[in-house]
Amino acid sequence: MKGIVFTEFLELVEDKFGLEMVDRIIENADLPSNGVYTSVGTYSFSEMLQLLQNLSSYTNISTDDLLQVYAEHFFSVIETSYPGLIATYKDPIEMLSSIENHIHVEVMKIYPDAELPTFVIEEKGEGYLKMIYKSSRAMYRFGLGLMNKTFEHFNATANIEFEKIKEDGTEVRFIIHQQ
Ligand code: HEM
Repeated sequence: MKGIVFTEFLELVEDKFGLEMVDRIIENADLPSNGVYTSVGTYSFSEMLQLLQNLSSYTNISTDDLLQVYAEHFFSVIETSYPGLIATYKDPIEMLSSIENHIHVEVMKIYPDAELPTFVIEEKGEGYLKMIYKSSRAMYRFGLGLMNKTFEHFNATANIEFEKIKEDGTEVRFIIHQQ
């Protein structure tokens, strides 16, 4: 997992819960990096999982809820860091249906060691998209947060439903209706 995901996460934790919480979640984890991250580095996903689980146990917020809030913050990082990629799109459904064959392809060129999910489009129509998220990291709520912000970016709203295909969240169907 890319360092920028860690550095931005810890900044958000500091912002919302204070520096002491950042120290607490790092100290109570077994981190090969010792909790020292650079935005260009690459670190194991299990480090992120431990940080999330620790934050979840200290705040009583589920890791899934934390992931969704974090994604909403991460979207603004994307907007600032990759404005050109988003500017390619005029429409949120077009953007979401292009993650797999354009957006994340470009991300792979920037970070060849990025660990990205797969999106398989099942159905697409006017203001409508049904696609399946697949990833061993089961970060579908991170995806949901990014989708919400994608609609907000285009001053649009949507009803986004999801259903787990696999109970562990490694395969999830998203049904998106723009409103
Ligand atoms: C992960 C970039 C749009 C879904 C990531 C990562 C980057 C990235 C850098 C981390 C990879 C790693 O840690 O190795 C971008 C950029 C985007 C974009 C630049 C737009 C210009 C989206 C959108 C979605 C999405 C709109 C909505 C579904 C995800 C998910 C992950 C991810 C779910 C977590 C990894 C996983 O589930 O396996 N993306 N992304 N991305 N992205 Fe994107």
